[in-house]
Amino acid sequence: MGIFGYPIVHSLSPVLHNAAFAKLGLDFVYLSFPVKPEDLEDAVKAIKSLNMVGVNVTIPHKRNVLDYLDEVDHQARMMTSVNTILHQDGRLIGYNTDGEGFLESLRREGEFDPQGKRAFVIGAGGAACAISFALVKAGIKSIILTNRTREKAKILLERLKKNVKDQCKFSLVDFSQRNSPGIMDKVDLFINATSVGMHAGDPLLINPDLFPSNIFVYDVVYNRKTELLKEAEKRNLPSLGGIGMLVYQATLSFKIWTSRKAPIDEMRNILRAEFNEHKVKD
Ligand code: ATR
Repeated sequence: MGIFGYPIVHSLSPVLHNAAFAKLGLDFVYLSFPVKPEDLEDAVKAIKSLNMVGVNVTIPHKRNVLDYLDEVDHQARMMTSVNTILHQDGRLIGYNTDGEGFLESLRREGEFDPQGKRAFVIGAGGAACAISFALVKAGIKSIILTNRTREKAKILLERLKKNVKDQCKFSLVDFSQRNSPGIMDKVDLFINATSVGMHAGDPLLINPDLFPSNIFVYDVVYNRKTELLKEAEKRNLPSLGGIGMLVYQATLSFKIWTSRKAPIDEMRNILRAEFNEHKVKD
C-alpha cells in the first residue's frame, strides 16, 4: 500500500499503517509516493501493474483521481473526492473515509450522535466537505456554513444541495457575520474544519463567548491543542481535536484493504508518540 500526494512532506499515514501491519503480523508495507499531478494517471495504472493492494490519495489528487478509477463509491462520488483506492479483482475502486472517520471519532470518542442536531461548520475545503456529507448521512437536522472565501462556501453548499437537499436544512453565513448575535444560539455542534490553529498564535475564528452551554466543539486540527479547544475546556464544553478523525479514517482504509479490524489503540499511540517527538512549542 502507499500514499499518492504532492508534495508529501511528512505524512503520518505510513507510520500508522505500518504499525498496524506489524501488530497484526500482516505481510504488507505502506510507503509514501510523491506523485506529480502530470504523473497521476501513470501512478494509478501502476497500482494494477505492480499488483498493489491499494493506496491512499491526498492533496492535490483527491478530485482528479476519479477520472482513472473503474468504480467510485456513492459517498465519494457525491463529494467528488477519493482518499482510498482498493485494487480488487483487477479493478480500482475509489472510496472516501474522511467523513466516516470524523463520524466514528465524534460518536465513539465524543459520544455525540448527530441525529436531529444542528451544526455550524467553518471552512469549505476538503475537510468541511467530507464532514458536511457525513453529518447529513448521520441525520443532522441543519448545517450552517461559513468560509473566509465566500465563493468556496457557495460551491460546497451547491454540491450539498444537489446531492442531499431534502435530507437537511442548509444555510450560508457571510464570514464577516459569523460572530453576529443569534447565529450560534441553537447550535449543538461547532466544527472548525479549517487549518487555523495548526500553529501557535493562530487566531480564534469564532468568539467562544457565543457558545451556548453544552455545545460540542470539534476541531479538525490534530497536531496541537488549539486555542479553540482551550476555550472550550475553560467553559467545560465537550470537545475533541482531530487526532481521532485522522486515526479513524486510517482504520477505515485499513479495513477496506485487509478486511481486518485495525488495531486502533496501537495506531493512536504511535501517533501520539510522533507528535511528542516533533512537539510544536507554544
Ligand atoms: P482541507 O482539505 O484540510 O480542508 P483546504 O482544502 O486547503 O484544506 O481548506 C482549508 C480551509 O481553511 C479553507 O476553508 C480555508 O479558507 P479559504 O477557502 O478562504 O482559503 C480555511 N483557512 C485557511 N486559512 C485561513 C485563515 N487564516 N482564516 C480563515 N480560514 C482559513
